[in-house]
Amino acid sequence: MSSYNMITHLFEIMLLVALLCGGLSYAQLSPSFYGTTCPNVTNVVRSVVEQARGSDSLIGPKLIRMHFHDCFVNGCDGSILLVGNGVDSEQNAVPNQSIDGYSVVDDIKTALENACPGVVSCADILALSSQILVGLAGGPTWQVPLGRRDGTSANRAGTTAIPGPFESLSNITRKFSDVGLDATDLVALSGAHTFGVARCSAFQTRLYNFNNGNPDPTLDTTYLNQLRQTCPQSGGGSTTTSLDPATPNGFDNNYFTNLQNNRGLLSSDQVLFSTSGAPTVAIVNRFAGSQSDFFDSFGQAMINMGNISPLTGSNGEIRADCKRVN
Ligand code: HEM
Ligand SMILES: *[C@@H]1O[C@H](CO)[C@@H](O)[C@H](O)[C@H]1NC(C)=O
Ligand SMILES: *[C@@H]1O[C@H](CO)[C@@H](O)[C@H](O)[C@H]1NC(C)=O
Ligand SMILES: *[C@@H]1O[C@H](CO)[C@@H](O)[C@H](O)[C@H]1NC(C)=O
Repeated sequence: MSSYNMITHLFEIMLLVALLCGGLSYAQLSPSFYGTTCPNVTNVVRSVVEQARGSDSLIGPKLIRMHFHDCFVNGCDGSILLVGNGVDSEQNAVPNQSIDGYSVVDDIKTALENACPGVVSCADILALSSQILVGLAGGPTWQVPLGRRDGTSANRAGTTAIPGPFESLSNITRKFSDVGLDATDLVALSGAHTFGVARCSAFQTRLYNFNNGNPDPTLDTTYLNQLRQTCPQSGGGSTTTSLDPATPNGFDNNYFTNLQNNRGLLSSDQVLFSTSGAPTVAIVNRFAGSQSDFFDSFGQAMINMGNISPLTGSNGEIRADCKRVN
């Protein structure tokens, strides 16, 4: 073998080794990630959330919304959970909008630390408990990819990446595409508003002063008058109303039928259907017409959202306490 060939071969072998090592450190999320390290993870989480659900019927909506707000800021890294010790907590940002349920996350963490200490991340707790709670409310099940690790910093300023209820469809669409989610993901994930509640302050303007002192024209008149009962023009900012008046606690596709009937609670809901010419309109119609189509798309969209910039391999850490870095 000529020295030229030997050098080429050596180079090829080095390249191969580099590729293999690179491939190994490029860890991917996988539903069986804890298969040997914490095989009972799903049962442990399920048992805590079932109990929590007994005393708080809104724990499902609360935790899936927490997962969403976590994933849109620094990726799905549990950064939303960090508080205290000089942390500029994401929980103090305006888009926290009444997110609650943090103590249940702590209860899940405690149970997991007892079952398999130091193994399951807080970021994965949010992803897994969201799936279990959607299922318990009558919604779809999907295989949750796991293996996220926890971030070591919060990013309060980054919460502007979370869409707000008064934003235009084009702005909301852009915020989703900024994290790699498309129009189908947007419409499917908005379907999480099939359960849970919103405060008066999130839709008050639509009822009284949308344009020149008139209500939002894309709001059904009967529904408008019902909403005015619980959400007065002044005060009442924190009184809550079900996001899905048809079936407030069940996870189903009624949300999309509501939009077709001008009964979306938030402006950000109704614009999905009422923005003429938008690609979201046909998707709303599709999900209104087929619950199984919605369920399949919702599971896939949750997987896509859960894949936003996860920390894997040796990045980040497994927090011992979800509220603090180790
Ligand atoms: C598309 C953009 C979105 C906007 C503008 C938006 C906005 C909001 C607002 C304003 C509330 C009411 C908060 C309050 O008044 O307390 C809310 C509640 C909720 N959101 Fe969204 N959201 C969006 C997407 C999502 C996504 C992607 C999910 C989850 C996959 C989600 C799940 C929920 C749930 C379950 C609730 C009820 C929470 C509870 O009952 O405590 N939302 N959302
Ligand atoms: C798995 O977790 C459940 C819920 O905590 C518990 O009842 C069960 O005994 C556990 N199973 C094993 C094999 O540890
Ligand atoms: C949410 O943010 C507000 C400030 O905008 C803060 O007063 C409130 O305590 C925060 N909520 C939680 C649960 O931390
Ligand atoms: C949309 O985003 C732009 C740029 O951030 C902002 O100036 C504008 O106020 C937003 N419009 C709505 C309706 O959200």
